[in-house]
Amino acid sequence: MANRRFLITGALPYSNGRLHVGHIAGAYLPADIYVRYLRAAGDEVRFICGSDDNGVAALKTAREEGTTVEELTARFNRSQRESFAGLGIVFDVYGGTHQPGFTEIHERLSQDLFRRIYQKDYFVKKTTKQLYDVEAKQFLPDRFVQGTCIHCKSPNAYGDQCEDCGRSLDALDLIDPKSTMTGTKPELRETVHWYLRLDRLQKRLAEWLRTKQRNAPLSPAWRPATVNFSLGQIENEGLPERCMTRDLDWGVPVPLDDPDAEGKVLYVWFDAPIGYVSFTAKDCEDRGEGWQAYERWWKDPDCRVVHFIGEDNTIFHAITWPAMLLASHDSDSTQGQAGEYQLPATVCVNAFLNIKFPGKEEEKISKSRGTAIWIEEYLTRFAPDPLRYYLTAIAPERQRTAFDLEDFIQRNNSELLAKLGNLVNRTLTFAKKYFDGNVPDPGDRQEVDLAQLAARQAAGDKVADHIEHFRFRAGLEAAMELASKGNEYFDVTAPYRTRKTDLAECGRAVNVCIQTVRSLATIIGPFLPFTARSILQQLAIDDDALAWSRLAEEITPGHALGEPTYLFRKIEPEELDSEQ
Ligand code: MF3
Ligand code: ZN
Repeated sequence: MANRRFLITGALPYSNGRLHVGHIAGAYLPADIYVRYLRAAGDEVRFICGSDDNGVAALKTAREEGTTVEELTARFNRSQRESFAGLGIVFDVYGGTHQPGFTEIHERLSQDLFRRIYQKDYFVKKTTKQLYDVEAKQFLPDRFVQGTCIHCKSPNAYGDQCEDCGRSLDALDLIDPKSTMTGTKPELRETVHWYLRLDRLQKRLAEWLRTKQRNAPLSPAWRPATVNFSLGQIENEGLPERCMTRDLDWGVPVPLDDPDAEGKVLYVWFDAPIGYVSFTAKDCEDRGEGWQAYERWWKDPDCRVVHFIGEDNTIFHAITWPAMLLASHDSDSTQGQAGEYQLPATVCVNAFLNIKFPGKEEEKISKSRGTAIWIEEYLTRFAPDPLRYYLTAIAPERQRTAFDLEDFIQRNNSELLAKLGNLVNRTLTFAKKYFDGNVPDPGDRQEVDLAQLAARQAAGDKVADHIEHFRFRAGLEAAMELASKGNEYFDVTAPYRTRKTDLAECGRAVNVCIQTVRSLATIIGPFLPFTARSILQQLAIDDDALAWSRLAEEITPGHALGEPTYLFRKIEPEELDSEQ
């Protein structure tokens, strides 16, 4: 199975905000676990992410904060990098669709794809009416228009949605519309845009999606909710033409030789996924491979592209983005030939995460209501692995789950600390105390020893199978089962008793415990990388031991172990008070 090739992406975060636990659980942590596992399994991987800088959202926040959009997006790009690094989520490249060093190649590749789709005749040019701010001299994005809701008559309605009743709106339907930029009443003006002919692509898209209901080599069946939802969009309603340009002066200019294209940019959801490609190209260039080497990842059927996203991104990754890629192909196949963009092998979608504070009801994560746990803040108080552990243990793989702060503490204390930490610590302190910090002789192994040793490879196989099928939660459970088995073995063989009666028998058990701990380092590695590293240090063996094929290797008797240290600390419930 060695030497498969994967291009893995995490959804590009908007660079107008910080990262919270919902983002991490939804996309980046499962992606990182997958990447770490693939690397341990010997596969070739590039792991790509970066910020989504273009579009209205960043402009709006910059305006509200009284800063430039360049400064704002650079600042949040940096903050996101730091949060990811702090959690051990390590990308090959963290770019940005409008960050220095990336903008140029991003524009070029985005414009290339737009032009290609244009030449293939998958765009239709249309004239529509849109609200225009005369004073600001610009068309108003939906979010920049405020007015009264036609449904509930609340004055807190915006051009896309009413803040009070939550219904989605059309900017042209707002009563008494006002520009949020100048406060003036906008007027209706004609504007021209380019629409992607999704209607002409939907047959091929549906065909392609149907192939995703089945397991394929190296590309397991997609989560049923993802395929069903996406196919449903096509089968029930049919796909409308989608506007792929905007009247805005922040983004990728529309690359057409047409006076109507002047002053317009690509829709942010058109250029953002191309960020995956342009960041890959930049990374290839930085490695000295030449930027064109991105084609080895994006245009070679031997490489699998896997996108990790939250559920709100499903349409864009399972329909619009594949449609853009299909529209760029010469052939009519649903896969893409060599030299053409590959469609994603898998889009791994997670549901949202709710939050539950002690003594309160479970609620949605909301920045404005202050019901979010920010990664920056978490990291000032706690270590990264307990969060990685908890977010995987409650991973919203099928439906919404809740980050329950009391449960977080409880699981840290009763699972990480009491099971995994306990096994490692009691094994290593015992070896230090009674075997001079050396691995004791295996002696004459009995059935109970052999069974425990065999459980290691079995656990490794199980975890691998779960991860390969994007069942991260089950994978973590299977890994923790090995820790529990190790503890049971320790209790049954009771080296603390046999050390007084039969030192050889005692050594036999401690040896098996050490081998179990060693295997655990590899098996939990993708989930808890800091912990794995610490275990290897305590065992005084090097990082190559993380290779999946070596997980059942034994450390030789007589090997000098390192210093035992605690892997986890107890978290007290009182610590939550300040957390809130
Ligand atoms: N910025 C979007 C969000 O946070 C995700 C963009 S993913 C990409 O919802 F593919 F478009 F880059
Ligand atoms: Zn309303």
